[in-house]
Amino acid sequence: MDKKLTPENYKFSVAPMMGVTTSSARYLYRLISKRALLWSEMIAAQALHKGDVKKLLFKDDIENPVILQVGGSDVDLLKNSAMLAEEYKYDGINLNVGCPSKKVSQGNMGACLMKESNLVKECVAAMIQETSIHVSVKCRIGVDEFESYTFFKDFVSTVAESGCDTFIVHARKAFLRGLDPKKNRTIPPLNYDFVHQIKKDFPKLNIVINGGFLNLQECREQLTKVDGVMVGRAIQSNPFLLTDVDELFYGVASSKIDRLAIVQEYFDYIHNSFDHTSGYKLLSPLLAMCFGLPGSKKFKQDLNELIRSRDIVRLKETYINLLAA
Ligand SMILES: Cc1cc2nc3c(=O)[nH]c(=O)nc-3n(C[C@H](O)[C@H](O)[C@H](O)COP(=O)(O)O)c2cc1C
Repeated sequence: MDKKLTPENYKFSVAPMMGVTTSSARYLYRLISKRALLWSEMIAAQALHKGDVKKLLFKDDIENPVILQVGGSDVDLLKNSAMLAEEYKYDGINLNVGCPSKKVSQGNMGACLMKESNLVKECVAAMIQETSIHVSVKCRIGVDEFESYTFFKDFVSTVAESGCDTFIVHARKAFLRGLDPKKNRTIPPLNYDFVHQIKKDFPKLNIVINGGFLNLQECREQLTKVDGVMVGRAIQSNPFLLTDVDELFYGVASSKIDRLAIVQEYFDYIHNSFDHTSGYKLLSPLLAMCFGLPGSKKFKQDLNELIRSRDIVRLKETYINLLAA
């Protein structure tokens, strides 16, 4: 790995999640962990060609290091994405070869590309040539009937010929027909053995394992077998899971995390961002934490009104009271 990010950076990642890992969520995560590698939502390379790039790629410098994840299979569009990622000061760019959604597949993006390893190799080689930031691939262990270890190994081997040295592997296969993305994150069984074996077969590659991790202890244990761990839904539902990441994964003695102080600081950020970001988007990284708590139903009912009235002080008080109850 020659470009700024090192394998050390990849030891712990918060997974890319559409509708979740927004700039606001990353801001909150960064208040809790200074070192975890943060990821954007997936953005289609086509959207970066035609859309409002400034809006799509907006991030605050405090969020760094952040990886931009893109979807696509058109070499020129991906080169453009890589160039933009560097221009907007992302620390790395990642090609999504794991999303099973029908719409994504129809655009020849995501998990369907596991069947086209030579095309992925060509795309990634072009991205590496275009940019000086680090380029990686996020994939599954298989797709549809292609579920053997040999298939997975051939995929990694071919794509690595592009010069790509980092693979993030969601350790279950994707079913492109019959399962929606949500079911594709639960129904295909997890198979960590394939990911451990790929590290054994390609010891020089930086291999990050993903899928199903619920606590930091089990993530830490993975580091004896692979180079890094990526966690998604467990952090979506409780961002404070990140509390001990700096210490456990990066050897940095973390200053004591005061949850209340972080929530207060995040509300300062909400206050300063209300003019240019929707209230719901700003609050959403905090909401999952109060689901199920006594009083959360009423809070949810009151939320629209609180956001509409832009009464951040009352919003903050109501939220903090809920957490403290
Ligand atoms: C709401 C949601 C959105 C997701 N969006 C993306 C995405 O944009 N790109 C991607 O590669 N994976 C996406 N994923 C998959 C996650 O990155 C991750 O691979 C998956 O959730 C398994 O990890 P986990 O068990 O730790 O959640 C998404 C997952 C969720 C729950």
